[in-house]
Amino acid sequence: MSMFSTGVLVLTSPLHILPLRIAPVLSSAAQLVERTLYVHFHPGLNLGGGTQPRPVFIQPVVDLSTVISRLYSNAADVCGHLDVRVLLTNIRAHPTTVPNCPFPAPQPLLHSPDVVLTDFAVQDPGQSLQVKQWLQKYTGHCYACGPSLPSVLLQPQLTRLQQEEDGQSRLEGKAEPLQTYSDVVVGGTFDRLHGAHKTLLSISCLLANRRFLIGVCDDAMLKKKVLNELIEPYSVRVQRLREFLHDIKPVLEVEIVPLDDPFGPSITDPLLQCIVVSEETKKGGEAVNKKRIQNGLPALVLHEIQLLKDVHHTETEEEKISSSSLRSRLLGTLISPPKDSSHLPPLPYVIGLAGGSGSGKSSIAHQLEALGALRIDCDILGHEVYQPGAAAYHRVLEEFGTDLLNENKTINRRALGRKVFGNKERLKALTDIVWPEIALLTRSRIHSAMEEGKQVCVVDAAVLLEAGWTDFVHEVWVTIIPEEEAVSRITERDGVTTEDALRRLQSQWPNAKQVEHANVVLSTLWEPEITRKQVLKAWNLLQKRIQQKEEGR
Ligand SMILES: *[C@@H]1O[C@H](CO)[C@@H](O)[C@H](O)[C@H]1NC(C)=O
Repeated sequence: MSMFSTGVLVLTSPLHILPLRIAPVLSSAAQLVERTLYVHFHPGLNLGGGTQPRPVFIQPVVDLSTVISRLYSNAADVCGHLDVRVLLTNIRAHPTTVPNCPFPAPQPLLHSPDVVLTDFAVQDPGQSLQVKQWLQKYTGHCYACGPSLPSVLLQPQLTRLQQEEDGQSRLEGKAEPLQTYSDVVVGGTFDRLHGAHKTLLSISCLLANRRFLIGVCDDAMLKKKVLNELIEPYSVRVQRLREFLHDIKPVLEVEIVPLDDPFGPSITDPLLQCIVVSEETKKGGEAVNKKRIQNGLPALVLHEIQLLKDVHHTETEEEKISSSSLRSRLLGTLISPPKDSSHLPPLPYVIGLAGGSGSGKSSIAHQLEALGALRIDCDILGHEVYQPGAAAYHRVLEEFGTDLLNENKTINRRALGRKVFGNKERLKALTDIVWPEIALLTRSRIHSAMEEGKQVCVVDAAVLLEAGWTDFVHEVWVTIIPEEEAVSRITERDGVTTEDALRRLQSQWPNAKQVEHANVVLSTLWEPEITRKQVLKAWNLLQKRIQQKEEGR
């Protein structure tokens, strides 16, 4: 069990041996800290010596950028959801030209640390107390921490291989300085900031001495991306970037601009010196330089970083850590916490399943049924409310006229459809009559499910969100599919024209708007087997939530 929310980890191992040690150190830290782990480098810091150590500047060296990429990559593997951030305040290319000392006052961090950790190896157990005190004082000089911070000496168990490699790499240590620049630029989407973003940003911060310019794709540029509905809004992405950069290098002048095209100010800003790219965006960097030369500006230095392979990739994901694979990993998980449902009986736990035409909603509802949920099909209930004798029957005839009647006194729904089609007011008059009736029937089904002792109900309702039926469900799940795919599925399935399919989709809430209200998002875009796995994942996670809720009562 984690005991602390935020920690600072002071790494004292020499840089050239750190890459081999990081994974075990991080995994011991992750057992103690659960939200944010700040990492501070001070290679060679002696916490066991005769005098109290002070923070000093460190030169940016090539080894440091290697260690940073390795660290973020390992963090993704061993730290789960822990937000790891490498602090770079004490790393500067020209410390003597900077008038202030590095830590004029302790730097405030987004989350105030409540524990300080180190990899410093204590030789003699009797030394521990002094090492801990000095560690606290040292950290207090650098960062604004809570009073009397507890400190922990991590003693990671190195494998024999690691120890041997330690010994070898000790001989190979070199401190090749890293070329730095006054103004550095990068571009990207920066959706749900992850290890690859952090590596890119941190290395850019190492390279930049004065200004860091970031172009962030705005919403218009993202329309074509896979699962773009799950991309965070521009303002949220910018906020996360600012918070991160303010933590890791507050002295830097950070400028964030929206990108409407792939270039933005990178091709017009005369002060820029360096652009940071990955293997994947290298071509983009070269294109920037072409345009700069056309614009009469000097070309930028292309600094290429290695993005590390992701060990968790699955068949729907590309092999590197990319935002789109992270987005597909979000499918089936809780993306926003369920709203307060204390007004509802705790069981059955009710899932409202929404989704546009052709999104595969019904197929997912059936899969959930097979896993043990009671499925309530609101389409069928919708037919029931028009039956002679049902409450909506007379009100519909009153509102729309008895010429709608078939010979056998049932309502001709095709004719009714023609009366309301394309007419917002008439459509509202109709839904004002039938939606509350369908809601009543649904609630009574849920009530019977409770009496039968059912754990989970799935309310399969295309109009769940439009009709405002969210107040009798515990969670909203939404199925999404790109519009083009939906159109081709609808035309194939229902034999209608593309125009009709589009019109039908346009009369419904767009995916992005549905996702805003969703607690869980699912997509049937890939093979049936992948959908099945996604649904199973969603179901298993749901069981855990229900169990936790039961235990909490
Ligand atoms: C009533 O008539 C309509 C149209 O002729 C038909 O589609 C429907 O099945 C009939 N319903 C019953 C209950 O007989």
